[in-house]
Amino acid sequence: MGTIFDELVAEYPVWWIDVLGEHNHIGGIEATRWLLARARLSPGAAMLDAGAFVGAAARLAARETGARAVAADINRDFLAAGRSMPGGELVEWVTASNARLPFRDGSFASVWCLDSAVVPKELTRVAAPGATLCLCCEVPVDGRGGMEAFLQEWEALGWRLVAHKPLSLEATEAWRRAENLLVRHRPRFEERYGKRGYLFALDTLADLVRAYEYGERGHGLFVFERTGR
Ligand SMILES: C[S@@+](CC[C@H](N)C(=O)[O-])C[C@H]1O[C@@H](n2cnc3c(N)ncnc32)[C@H](O)[C@@H]1O
Repeated sequence: MGTIFDELVAEYPVWWIDVLGEHNHIGGIEATRWLLARARLSPGAAMLDAGAFVGAAARLAARETGARAVAADINRDFLAAGRSMPGGELVEWVTASNARLPFRDGSFASVWCLDSAVVPKELTRVAAPGATLCLCCEVPVDGRGGMEAFLQEWEALGWRLVAHKPLSLEATEAWRRAENLLVRHRPRFEERYGKRGYLFALDTLADLVRAYEYGERGHGLFVFERTGR
């Protein structure tokens, strides 16, 4: 018999689940651990995993730090699967959009958003003074000040950058591996996504590989601290 995650994979034939797995972001579990080491979580501290999928980060944080983790996502099936996975009983599961989080201002000591919809004002609203913000996200890599503008947007909301790890190379390699996988196992993935779905996934991955190889897109991990401004 397969695991709960295998059952979810069987039910959701989508490339990003196949390619990225349970820790569904660039860098996988190592990236989650890199952020966890810098999130300053302690037993009982409230942590929000926004756009959590199966809440891999929330479950790991709850198990390893004793934090009171909340996993939120727009898809309740993902949350239901996460709840039944190891550590799921330690986490609170909430169906919600990152654009409108059902939490009071300043509820969380650490706010996470890993390769999901980043909504800066809403993520900031739910963060307590002194909170940390952990992001795994695309970042502008252009030579026209895109990265500076990205950081300035967070600074204007009262955040100070405390740690950064570039992941553009990892992202390029992840999308290349994924494209290769889909090409090598075409019959399997055509059956899984349908012919049109397969070609769409392949086009999406080819576009991602090209954009990362040309330096048009970049990726990174960021830890910010709320200065209370
Ligand atoms: C690539 S997965 C990342 C999942 C998770 N953060 C992780 O790192 O394992 C993106 C997730 O974001 C969720 N999502 C997309 N848009 C969202 C939104 N506006 N609000 C909340 N969740 C969203 C999707 O349902 C999906 O589970």
